[in-house]
Amino acid sequence: MTDTVYVLNGPNLNLLGLREPEIYGRTTLDEIAGMLEDRARDLGLAIDMRQTNHEGMLVDWLHEAQAEGAKAVLINAGAYTHTSIALLDAARAITTPVIEVHLSHPKEREEFRHISYIGMAAARTFEGHGPDSYRLALEYAASAVD
Ligand code: DQA
Repeated sequence: MTDTVYVLNGPNLNLLGLREPEIYGRTTLDEIAGMLEDRARDLGLAIDMRQTNHEGMLVDWLHEAQAEGAKAVLINAGAYTHTSIALLDAARAITTPVIEVHLSHPKEREEFRHISYIGMAAARTFEGHGPDSYRLALEYAASAVD
């Protein structure tokens, strides 16, 4: 059976393409999903890409990734990155490898973005490469995660 990588996206990422394009660019989340699906196919993987504006939904999806036997979780938790101990706990509660993704480079932005709770439980972080952060994280999941 094809291994599945969950790709979880948090608040405001549904507005990619329109939202602060000088920071996040003009690529939409659907376009990123299409690009990742193509790359996943080349890597012999499937992706399950989702977006929510609700913190608890991200917690539920992390649990689900484990229950469904996902190969890895890529997560761009948006602003919950910097606030959510619940997401940190959820990432620690599962054995599925969690890989953190950001389009921008939060540590080079406002100070309140310098802490990443989810990052404390992440196997790796890919940030500052725009949509390519997702591709790099998927390639890492394919090569570095058994
Ligand atoms: C983001 C960075 C976060 O600080 C911000 O709140 C986002 C997007 C990124 O992908 O660069 O919503 O996660």
